[in-house]
Amino acid sequence: MAMAALSLPSWCRHANAMAVVALLLMATAAAPAAVQALLQDDVNFMWGQDHSFFHNDGNGVDMLALCLDKTHGSGFRSKAAYLYGRFDIDVKLVANNSAGTVTTVYLTTDDVRPGHHDEVDMEFLGNVTGEPYTLHTNIFVDSVGNREQQFRLWFDPTADFHTYSFEWTPKNIIFLIDGRPIRVHKNDGVAFPTQRRMRLDGSLWNADDWATQGGRVKTDWTQAPFYAYYRNFRVTPCAPPPSPAGAAVYCGDDEAPESAAALRRVRAEHLLYDYCEDQNRFKATGLPKECTTD
Ligand SMILES: *[C@@H]1O[C@H](CO)[C@@H](O)[C@H](O)[C@H]1NC(C)=O
Ligand SMILES: *[C@@H]1O[C@H](CO)[C@@H](O)[C@H](O)[C@H]1NC(C)=O
Repeated sequence: MAMAALSLPSWCRHANAMAVVALLLMATAAAPAAVQALLQDDVNFMWGQDHSFFHNDGNGVDMLALCLDKTHGSGFRSKAAYLYGRFDIDVKLVANNSAGTVTTVYLTTDDVRPGHHDEVDMEFLGNVTGEPYTLHTNIFVDSVGNREQQFRLWFDPTADFHTYSFEWTPKNIIFLIDGRPIRVHKNDGVAFPTQRRMRLDGSLWNADDWATQGGRVKTDWTQAPFYAYYRNFRVTPCAPPPSPAGAAVYCGDDEAPESAAALRRVRAEHLLYDYCEDQNRFKATGLPKECTTD
């Protein structure tokens, strides 16, 4: 969909609870999308609502821009919570010099008490102009993470929207980009979130103490405000089980063979770091169980 010349303010803060900014469309999209729920009806802000802008033009263009300046960024959370489902959202990352910024999409429980928190993360670590973003992923179960995997994207994530997805079933957590699986965490006798509902969050914030080249490159505030864009949030919840006494798995299928091949290919080409291959780090305890099964 054409989305040229979006007019956004050159400052972040606004006073109204829900700023809706006019869209200038240079080229009109061919066919308006089917009527769908507006993003602004589906999310609440955890912080920085005054640094967020909704755009909807009534023609299927429905978008949320998060804004980061020196004071703070912004973070939203889906109103609905789910136990298993397929979550998709389109994101366009901070362009040009994004060093020090982090843009996120993640699933999270509301419960943050130690031992009770689950989270499935995609964090996009910005970089100086011309250098690549890093996609940092992690999985927390019962508040324990340490399951980092990092990827180099095979496209410019600032040039256009791409679809970032989680497929969370009783069997697997699958991370996908534009429908291509990049990471699978299998529920076979390892730590796996099965107990608590999760919501989808998105955020943009400053993390220049660690994000870019290990924290050596700081955010250049002369480039602020920084914008990241979200649109087209959709959730396909798991269907209820056909019978309560039926099989435990009633949502999602096993990975198709072709997606297993696609997964291997993406990982062969784009994986930067995998905790499962970090023997040194787990020298004392041995690799986590999920790293040594199959
Ligand atoms: C990024 O840089 C290009 C080229 O200088 C410029 O046209 C564009 O407006 C910049 N984008 C942002 C978001 O600053
Ligand atoms: C930024 O670019 C440098 C140089 O290409 C690269 O080593 C680094 O992994 C990139 N990403 C981040 C988040 O630092």
